[in-house]
Formats: sequence, C-alpha cells, structure tokens
Amino acid sequence: MKHLLSLESLSPEAMRQILRDTIPFKRERGLHTRQPLAGQSWALIFSKSSTRTRVSFEVAVRELGGQAMFLNANDIQLGRGEPIKDTARVLGRMAHGAIIRTYAQQDVEEFAAYSNIPTINALTDEEHPCQILTDIFTFEEKRGPIAGKVVTFIGDGACNVPQSWIFAAAKLDFELRIAAPRIYQPPESVTARAGGRIRFFENVLEAASGAHLLYTDVWVSMGKESEAAQRLKELAGYQINASVVRSAAPDALVMHCLPAYRGMEIDEATFEAHAQTIFDQAENRLHTQKSALNWACS
Ligand code: CP
Ligand code: NVA
Repeated sequence: MKHLLSLESLSPEAMRQILRDTIPFKRERGLHTRQPLAGQSWALIFSKSSTRTRVSFEVAVRELGGQAMFLNANDIQLGRGEPIKDTARVLGRMAHGAIIRTYAQQDVEEFAAYSNIPTINALTDEEHPCQILTDIFTFEEKRGPIAGKVVTFIGDGACNVPQSWIFAAAKLDFELRIAAPRIYQPPESVTARAGGRIRFFENVLEAASGAHLLYTDVWVSMGKESEAAQRLKELAGYQINASVVRSAAPDALVMHCLPAYRGMEIDEATFEAHAQTIFDQAENRLHTQKSALNWACS
C-alpha cells in the first residue's frame, strides 16, 4: 500500500519517479492512453477551502478513468464528531483511494493507517507535498535539474508550504533559504529531521542574493485568520518585489503556490511580470498529481 502523506516520508526515488512520469502525463493529456484508475472511486475529503487542489484532483481522477467524489468534511458525519478512524474504515470498504485536506497531519496519517486504501495529503497545517512536487516539476521543466540550485522562500517560513520545501531540499540536493522574521521560522525540530542545506535569514535581499527561484505563499494560512492583523504587521516587508528580484540571479523564476494577495507577500507588478510561470505552475498541479495517483495505485 502506497500513501503520499508528506515529503518527509516520501523517498527520493519515489519523488524522482513521480517527477519523471509527470512529463508523459502532461504530453499525453487528452489522449486518454493511460487509465490506471479505471473502475475506481476516489474520495476527496476537504475540511478547508480549495480551488486548485480540488479541481486538479477531480479532473486528474476522471482523466485517469476513475470517479471523484467530493466530500466537504462538514457535510459528512466527520463534521459532527465521528472519529477519523471510523470514517477511514468505512471509506476503506467502499472507495479505492482518498485525497484529504485538513488541519492536523496526524489526521491524514491516522486515516491512512485505518483505511487500507492509498491516501494522499492535499494539504495539512504541516505539509503540502503535492504542491511542492509540482513546483519542482515546474522549475525543472523551465530550468533543468534543481540539484545544486538555490531556492529562496520569503514570507511565513513556518507554514506547510516551506515545511514541505525543507523536506525536499535534502532529498533533491538543492540549497533552501528561508527569509522570515525569527518567530515565523520553522521549528528547529523540523530542520533537524530534514537535514540538508537550509539557511535562515531575517534580511530578504541577502536571502534572495543569486537565487535561482524566488517563492512565496500567503502570510495568513487557512486556520490562522484570527492572527491576520498581527501577521500583516509582523510579516510586512517579507515580500517579493522588484528590488528582491534584482538581487536574485538574472534569470531567476518567481513562483507562488496561490492564492496571491497583492501588496502583501508579492506586489502586483512582480506578480503580473511572472504570471506565465505562476499559472504554468498552477496548471502543473494536474499533471503532477496524475503522476502521483498513478504511483500511489501501482
Ligand atoms: N495552492 C493550492 O493548494 O491552492 P488551493 O488552496 O486553491 O487548492
Ligand atoms: N499556506 C497556505 C497554502 C495555501 C495553498 C495555507 O495553508 O492556507
């Protein structure tokens, strides 16, 4: 049984396989040559909002021959307190796989342990593995191997997206720099578990110097809305803008996992100047996740 629960638990070989197989899935879109999910029903169980992840997974499951069943966590008994492990044992007897977006990482781990069906993390408070696999695919599609390159994340360095970047860095051998105020840097336990070349900066321009990829994410992640005012104050300045881009390598890519809040983590002009890359990145969710689904059910 294969699960994609985190980049921490995904082997470098599995990461490489998913990234490699994304190429033919992207090239052959629309030809329906591979239908590894034929006859299968996959459940999407979401406790948080989503545009890209929901749509890309629903389309991916369908184009791979399966049926996608979207379950808002509040509409099923889970939302009224039925335990994860009971939900998992019921769905495990009916569905062929599960794609889960929720708060606690422990919840997707528990679902996987009890359901006995392939389980994919579609974002938790700790990790967003499908996003970062896509980001790396997008980087390599445009610039070649990421090994040896410098990736600079700017913004809330303690949330799910940078944490998945941290686990990718050691496995795929690139340098990761995180520019964030000290209280928005990830816990030491995470970087200690990850290993690899991770460097922390409070100075954004220093972190961006010579970088091959500048990356950012929202300042206020889902679940942190009550801290919004404080975060806007404390993260002010941790933004990708023209001066940050000037500090990076001349052909540096700018990426954003989206949704983007202009004037906060990125300014309008920089976002629009790099919109081609950012929306290629969004589209690539579909292709990379097809490859991940194919890997999980093989
Ligand atoms: N980047 C991302 O996961 O977007 P959604 O929240 O819209 O799924
Ligand atoms: N860190 C963001 C990612 C959104 C795709 C969040 O968790 O809301």
